Amino acid sequence: MGIAEEIKKLKVESNAVILAHNYQVPEVQDVADFCGDSLDLCRKAEKTGADTIVFCGVDFMAETASILTGKKVLVPDADARCPMAGMLPAVQVREAKKKHPGIPVVLYINTLAEAKAEADVICTSANMLEVINSLDSDTVIFGPDSNMAYFARKKTKKNIITIPEAGHCIVHRGLIPAKRISEMLKLHPAAILLAHPECEPEVQEMAHHIASTNGMLKLARALPAKEFIVATEEGLGYRLSKENPDKKFYVLAGAVCRNMKKTTLEKVRECLTRKEPQVFVPPDIAKKARRAIERMMELSKG
Ligand code: 13P
Ligand code: SF4
Repeated sequence: MGIAEEIKKLKVESNAVILAHNYQVPEVQDVADFCGDSLDLCRKAEKTGADTIVFCGVDFMAETASILTGKKVLVPDADARCPMAGMLPAVQVREAKKKHPGIPVVLYINTLAEAKAEADVICTSANMLEVINSLDSDTVIFGPDSNMAYFARKKTKKNIITIPEAGHCIVHRGLIPAKRISEMLKLHPAAILLAHPECEPEVQEMAHHIASTNGMLKLARALPAKEFIVATEEGLGYRLSKENPDKKFYVLAGAVCRNMKKTTLEKVRECLTRKEPQVFVPPDIAKKARRAIERMMELSKG
């Protein structure tokens, strides 16, 4: 029996569902029940009837699924951490609230549970504008991604106070430089540039569309264009090409999130066999963070 078959058997035996982020390696995406962006995976976690969730992604995603569902969440590699999520400690959110009393705090889902527990509402790259616009305040505290703050300032016209000053994704900042994007645009003049809002402002300015990873999948399906330059982690290219075999997708070789790639089929099989590592969020933190996550889910029902 091949490893994928073994995983399927183990999954049935433990009534588990496998959720995978769009940046996971192809073989992990292929064994998953659902692939998606951060918001879509929250929805899939909420809806599942399975007892156990195997989360193939990074720390904050698995934590969020655990908080939302209260179910057992297994992670194939407990070291798969999003560096950006680690850039905003809870203490810094508390300090910002003290400094700006009464100003609502919107945190990107790429934060750890302790920080989420201090937020009024969470957002993802798919619903950020909707969440910020829903707030009855001209000023909003937002963190940790300064590039997403740039996007929000431009699109909502609200005053966005960023915490920390320069939080960012090392992949979208360091490995997707504007210079390479403009070279690619010259090389493929008919291509549509899709960019993630975690990209640098210069890349955002060049983009035809700015969207979450699921948003890019939707655009690639819907637009008549035959060629796309994809300014995000290269793993999205797999799903884009699989779902649109008649179209061409130019991803940036080397734009790799090493943490997303820590999950392998062997580790998925091992965690299903051993029933660990399991995500643990202290109940008091989970209770506070759940309020902010549920508020987002409520706003993004449609
Ligand atoms: P999406 O929610 O758009 O998939 O983004 C998650 C992420 O970590 C991007 O780097
Ligand atoms: Fe975090 Fe960036 Fe990796 Fe997304 S691509 S998980 S933001 S480090």
